[in-house]
Amino acid sequence: MSSYLDAARLETAPAETSGFRPAIHFTARDTWLNDPNGLVFHDGLYHLFFQNNPFGSVWGNMSWGHATSHDLLHWTEHAVAIACDEKEDIFSGSVVVDHGNTSGFGTADAPALVAIYTSAFKAASGHSGTQAQSLAYSTDAGMTWQKYDANPVLTRNSAHFRDPKVFRYQGRDGEFWVMVAVEAQHQTVVFYRSEDLKSWEFLSDFGPANADQGEWECPDLFPLAVDGDSDNVKWVLIVNVNPGAVAGGSGGQYFVGDFDGVRFIPDSGSVVAPAGVAAISDPTAAAAALQQCLWLDWGRDCYASVSFSNAPDDRRIIIGWMNNWDYANQLPTAPWRSSMTLARELRLSTVNGAARLVQQPLLAGHGTSTEVPAARAQLTADPFELRDSILRLPDAVPGSAQIIEADILPGSTGQVAFHLFANGEGSTGTVLGYNAASGQLVLDRRQSGNTGFHEKFSSVESAPLVLEDGVLKVQIVVDHCSVEVFAQGGKVVLTDLVFPAADSQENWLSAEGGAAAILKLTVSTLA
Ligand code: FRU
Repeated sequence: MSSYLDAARLETAPAETSGFRPAIHFTARDTWLNDPNGLVFHDGLYHLFFQNNPFGSVWGNMSWGHATSHDLLHWTEHAVAIACDEKEDIFSGSVVVDHGNTSGFGTADAPALVAIYTSAFKAASGHSGTQAQSLAYSTDAGMTWQKYDANPVLTRNSAHFRDPKVFRYQGRDGEFWVMVAVEAQHQTVVFYRSEDLKSWEFLSDFGPANADQGEWECPDLFPLAVDGDSDNVKWVLIVNVNPGAVAGGSGGQYFVGDFDGVRFIPDSGSVVAPAGVAAISDPTAAAAALQQCLWLDWGRDCYASVSFSNAPDDRRIIIGWMNNWDYANQLPTAPWRSSMTLARELRLSTVNGAARLVQQPLLAGHGTSTEVPAARAQLTADPFELRDSILRLPDAVPGSAQIIEADILPGSTGQVAFHLFANGEGSTGTVLGYNAASGQLVLDRRQSGNTGFHEKFSSVESAPLVLEDGVLKVQIVVDHCSVEVFAQGGKVVLTDLVFPAADSQENWLSAEGGAAAILKLTVSTLA
């Protein structure tokens, strides 16, 4: 750690008090984190770098923290990888494995890992007030990093040019590096290309479009085969937006289209507001357009999602920051604050005639399968009916995450609902319900314990959900202070933080206003 960091080090971190520390979601041991950075798979290890304040529990002193994992569920935190100094904070970015040693930082036999990050320059720097892209490299498989001495490598003399995601593009004209970054306050994604990661040439830009009522941040661009068909590959452009997401505050939208090595052209079906929602003057029409945008997650707490470089078998695995800038600095945990979402595998599937993302949480370990391996309580040998009644499920288990999976025919019910972190029959808790009249999946955390730490925290989220053969299919991952919902095989995803009371650890399932058929119901634990 640099002397600059040592000088600013806070006194001993306070003891853990909250009981909210998740079992299978990454948290820093005793400090603040935000965006995942530099996600890369290398030599059998998943590396998670992250926006980190090495000295405290609120945003500041931005540096890249570092953790590694073999299974994407259990992480080991390492020393700060790239530290801020007098001249720059280290903002978000990506890491590539420079297999061809194009940068010259490694050798042909031992490729360097190269980090492309945003230098947020401070007053002591000659670039003061600007954000520009810089390099750091590691020749020991990601454990220690050197800043490149000719930084920054790409500037636009802009105060809001950041969050570079770099990938290797292979096209008809050969192979080169592509950088996707943002002009955050212009709601614009900018594309550059390079042969050596050091000198960059402008290609094109994209935006504003769709959700643009806040800054655009942390973009990503990657190809995926539609329905697994390698002859039908589409490109997905992820654009995180803050504020102005569908659930309020921070969130991730995406576009589906084509990329030819120069330009991203979205499919017409993925653009609902060609000039951006902000340009729609009628508030009702603007709100309706926001609902039509493509969202990675309909909850309050999934932001800055980006994908791994170099993942095995060309799989596309993302991690998001499980938080929202609306209240991020006030979460009631100490001394750590904030966690990441689960790693989620992305696929493109045809939904209503268009290619759309589906997500599966990677719960099996080793990132190889989406199956849940843990002890599984089979609660239903045979389908059964739940009519205007409530059923107790296994309680939450301290130290473990719970995975609740259910296939339900809501039938004539007004609402089928899971009550999580409840305390006694009939208590509300955190409610995940399917409402037949509105056709919405609703996550209501208004009675989920501590909601008062920020005025914007108490909330109800909803997502349109289409039953399939009349069936609602949900997989709910509950982990001490979070609820992640993957519905209809991952077509609809909702992620919310919750801070329940210590004595509220019961789970219930209710059917109101009629009879629902419970076709499958399992509750597993994973620690
Ligand atoms: C997104 C973000 C990025 C920036 C980083 C700073 O949450 O604002 O745009 O690089 O956080 O910590």
